[in-house]
Amino acid sequence: MPTDIQLWLLANHQKKVYELRESQNMKGLLPVSLKPDYDTESLLPALDASRVIKDPDEIDLIRRAIKVSSLAHRTVMHHITSMRSEAEVHALYLDICIAYGADWQAYPPIVASGANASILHYTDNNESLKGKTLLCLDAGCEWGCYSSDITRTFPLVANGWPSKEVAEIYAIVEEMQERSIAMLGPGVRYMDAFYLADRIAMKGLLRLGILRRGSVDEILSAGVSKAFFPHGLGHHMGLDVHDVSAKPILSSCRGEEQSMLDHSEKSLLRPTNEFMAPCRSDAALLEPGMVITVEPGIYFSQYALERVYLPNPEIASFIDEEVLKRYLHIGGVRIEDDILITKHGYENLTLTPKGKEMLDIIRDGAECHHGIEYRFRLDAKR
Ligand code: GLY
Ligand code: MN
Ligand code: MN
Repeated sequence: MPTDIQLWLLANHQKKVYELRESQNMKGLLPVSLKPDYDTESLLPALDASRVIKDPDEIDLIRRAIKVSSLAHRTVMHHITSMRSEAEVHALYLDICIAYGADWQAYPPIVASGANASILHYTDNNESLKGKTLLCLDAGCEWGCYSSDITRTFPLVANGWPSKEVAEIYAIVEEMQERSIAMLGPGVRYMDAFYLADRIAMKGLLRLGILRRGSVDEILSAGVSKAFFPHGLGHHMGLDVHDVSAKPILSSCRGEEQSMLDHSEKSLLRPTNEFMAPCRSDAALLEPGMVITVEPGIYFSQYALERVYLPNPEIASFIDEEVLKRYLHIGGVRIEDDILITKHGYENLTLTPKGKEMLDIIRDGAECHHGIEYRFRLDAKR
């Protein structure tokens, strides 16, 4: 390697050696006679910037990853009413990915039933589904090192949403996602889509009576939305599931989080005035060739509500605890799609069913299996 660099320096009459970081310094390996000038500052940002706009071959690999993940999600939906545990779901999802050539996942799958869905990066995936009504499956495989990142939240019962409350929350998240996706396109500030989703969430919770007073503006400036929608709207996706960029697409005073990764206790305990709009104006605008996720959610985390939000008198003054109790069992609902920004708008690359189509697959699957448990059907095949 030093020899290649020496040759390149000599052939190009160069002195500059760009290195990713100080720890990779080549000092001592290259002859002093070349008088190299080491730069450890410029290469990483240049690489990050070069990964933001995906070329057609990269988009093709992302499409392939999404295709396999979507098939795996669809297969889980078909079998879900006869499955017994998060582990079984995890295994079936991986089974399909591997069978179709995707040996690697872009991140550890999140198979969260019931209250576990309120833990954003739940990966234990080891609880029984008994007595639970909802499952949140956030899982995406890789294809040729490129990611997919898909979340569906669906019932564990055959005949649609298990309660009026679940249907109501799903409808709000659906609206958050549909309307924020609809506004995407070149020149759009992604953060504005995030704020729109935030407003729809708060309006919806007001309508249901979970929030009992105030205008949407008052609710947002008090920082209440973070209690129910504690993460950003999404992130770049590519070689990394949370792909790099020179400049973040989310950069707001609501919190520094770019994605649902930041759910540490420290983040939950941040003072609420940090979450207020208006945001900083320096967030990057969307451009054709960017691939981003749109992943709104509404969560009922007993832990976060009891420890952080309800003890805060200002936030608690907006919440009707009696009404809230009826929704706590939901855990969380998130819907996540992968979106390509195009010259004139966007293309939703995600092929995974959601909404009514998803409910139909679950019902049809239940009819096929005649109540025989997934595991017993597997045993019968042996
Ligand atoms: N699966 C991680 C995320 O949605 O950001
Ligand atoms: Mn994501
Ligand atoms: Mn995800």
